Amino acid sequence: DIQPVILAGGVGSRLWPLSRALYPKQIMNLTGDKSLFQLTWERCVDTSDGISPWIITGMEHRFLIKEQLEGTISEDPTIIVEPCGKNTAPAVAAAAFYAQKLGRDPVLLVCPSDHVIKRPSVFKQIVQNKALELAQDGLLVTIGIKPTSPETGYGYIKKGRDFKAIEFIEKPDTINAEKMVSSGDYFWNAGIFVMKVSTFLDELKRLSPQVFKEVGQSVERAKKDGAFLYLDEETFTRSPEDSIDYAVMEKTDKVAVVPGDMGWSDVGSWKALWEIGEKDEHGNVIFGDVMENGCKDCYILSTGRLISAIGLEDIIIVETKDAVLVAPKKRAQDVKAIVRDLKDNG
Ligand code: GDD
Ligand code: MG
Repeated sequence: DIQPVILAGGVGSRLWPLSRALYPKQIMNLTGDKSLFQLTWERCVDTSDGISPWIITGMEHRFLIKEQLEGTISEDPTIIVEPCGKNTAPAVAAAAFYAQKLGRDPVLLVCPSDHVIKRPSVFKQIVQNKALELAQDGLLVTIGIKPTSPETGYGYIKKGRDFKAIEFIEKPDTINAEKMVSSGDYFWNAGIFVMKVSTFLDELKRLSPQVFKEVGQSVERAKKDGAFLYLDEETFTRSPEDSIDYAVMEKTDKVAVVPGDMGWSDVGSWKALWEIGEKDEHGNVIFGDVMENGCKDCYILSTGRLISAIGLEDIIIVETKDAVLVAPKKRAQDVKAIVRDLKDNG
């Protein structure tokens, strides 16, 4: 059986200033009348033939997330609540240990909630067939996307024979990303994982024993309250902070990659939102009160004040009540660093 798991923590700092600590990107309606989280939920339910996904999120977002499901399901969802954000390795580990605690060894379908998949039927077909089969054979299965540019924010996977991955490189520098893209041998990691609980926990124990130990205990001592499963704070807080990509995928030799042409895009940055956005005849994506003259390939969003932009090319402008971002599109990944600096300086 497939048990979907939705990762719904993290703040989406590359979408600052719109995405904020208390109002993260996965619940913003970025692309239509449903949030990315709601679309992810629907995709997961469909792919698992009706199994309710487990959700992993932080204390600060648990009620927002629950609200997002009102009217969708009648029973309580299962929301695993982290006392603090420790990135995706501990988050996925918590879901895996929870399954184990229930005495089960399902295939987890781990999905981030910050993606758009334009062809969900292709996604479903890949997961239900090849990915599931490889996962049952004891592999950690990823979905590979054909790269279109040397993005530094993604993982890169080199495919060998029989879907086995030869290499997994998380977030390379620009030079290496360029090399990998032009070689034609690499896929982007879509950030979706299909794997048996036991396979993942065995690898985690070997490669990241500290995360294994602390998160295991925090699930052991977790307390259920209605929809919420509160992980034990003392032990979870002691876990190292790491992503599943660095902690496990880069190090193990059990990665498989199934290429999937499913209309995937990560909407993790303003550049990505420009790419999937509806463009005017000059390639501009514009929201809100904007006066534009002679701009080309820009992303301009106003949430209140009038933005007037003249003769710009490849520029992002995002206006909110208390902050304005202006940046060249090609540096969209660097927004994350600004947010880090802001945090450090209070
Ligand atoms: N519950 C929880 N707790 N969720 C988290 C946490 C956390 O501490 N940190 C991040 N997430 C969620 C995010 O909301 C997102 O949905 C997902 O986990 C992935 O985290 P990101 O922070 O967005 O990862 P990334 O974009 O830098 O990199 C990952 O995704 C890329 C594709 O989008 C990696 O898997 C890359 O290899 C991959 O290419
Ligand atoms: Mg992301």
